Amino acid sequence: MKEADQKSESLDALAARALAARETAYAPYSRYPVGAAILTADGQVFDGCNVENLSFGATICAERAAAVKAVGAGAKRFTAMAVVSRDSTPCLPCGICRQFLSEFADPDFQVAACRADGTYVVYRFDALFPHAFSSDAIEREPDSTRIRTTEAET
Ligand code: THU
Repeated sequence: MKEADQKSESLDALAARALAARETAYAPYSRYPVGAAILTADGQVFDGCNVENLSFGATICAERAAAVKAVGAGAKRFTAMAVVSRDSTPCLPCGICRQFLSEFADPDFQVAACRADGTYVVYRFDALFPHAFSSDAIEREPDSTRIRTTEAET
């Protein structure tokens, strides 16, 4: 199978997972359900849905819900993602999600922006988000075993 065919096959599978995840969305306030599915570099798929909250700002988008699951399972390199809502136009990740995903995006990270029926348009992530926030002043690879509060107490 050609590489391009393999990719579209995996994007089709991701779109199907995103559609299924949309079914579990908790969106009583916006009534705008979103589903997302992320393919990681080691071939795993993690899905997520939006989870709203009465304190509106506490709402979590589907893409970040999926990303948190992936990272929590130890998969920190993302190669593709599908996202879907109930629109007939392709659904794209919001700005906060783009910044969040950029931390784990492979150089050729692809986004399948799906219509409600599961058909999609493919974007390169770096075209959707070319200038991520990054600062030399912040450690890029913090020692995750170090607990700063404990350090301050001693
Ligand atoms: N939402 C997502 O889940 N992903 C996005 O990229 C944009 C917005 C959710 C948040 C909220 O629950 C609803 O869609 C309406 O904004």
